[in-house]
Amino acid sequence: MRPRRSPRPPVTAPYNGPIVRALCPGSFDPVTTGHLDVIVRGAALFDELWIGVGRNSAKQPLFSVEERLEQLAVVVAAAGIRARAVAFSGLVVEFARSQGIGCLLRGLRGGGDLDYELPMAQLNRRLEPRVETLFLPPAPEHAYVSGRLVRDAGRHGGSLAGLVPECIRTAVERRLREGAARV
Ligand code: PNS
Repeated sequence: MRPRRSPRPPVTAPYNGPIVRALCPGSFDPVTTGHLDVIVRGAALFDELWIGVGRNSAKQPLFSVEERLEQLAVVVAAAGIRARAVAFSGLVVEFARSQGIGCLLRGLRGGGDLDYELPMAQLNRRLEPRVETLFLPPAPEHAYVSGRLVRDAGRHGGSLAGLVPECIRTAVERRLREGAARV
């Protein structure tokens, strides 16, 4: 009998096994129903889904990072999914590698997003080829929902029903009416 060869590691896969932990990074200021759609579907695709709130955004935020983490925890609990919200600073791929995360998951609504997302994914790949980026198109009913439009509608007193998860709607509408915020 021939001696059994030990299995070779795959040549193309970045890890010797499937990707099990993914990170959905973003600003989530506020989390929208479009984000939630991607998060819920992402949670079903991976063993673990982390939601990463970037700390180093140059933008003047509506909600502090801590408030956004709390909101994401509430939204995840209300959706009944397994996902955890974490904050990260610095390069997203470095954070991912340090946490054993092999995949970044981003929503992709259309061509405008692609123009923004593709260079970001290419740069992230150059910085850390072992972290892959995967794109998920949101359900069509969320295709026009963005944080910017939600903030604009809310600032002018528009209802955010269907645009942000119901469990955080009052808080988001109130903050937008009060005016943008303390960090
Ligand atoms: O929701 P957003 O604002 O499109 O999220 C952008 C985010 C936080 C994913 C992106 O700005 C980011 O990854 N920032 C961390 C800094 C970094 O890694 N930059 C290099 C890739 S662009």
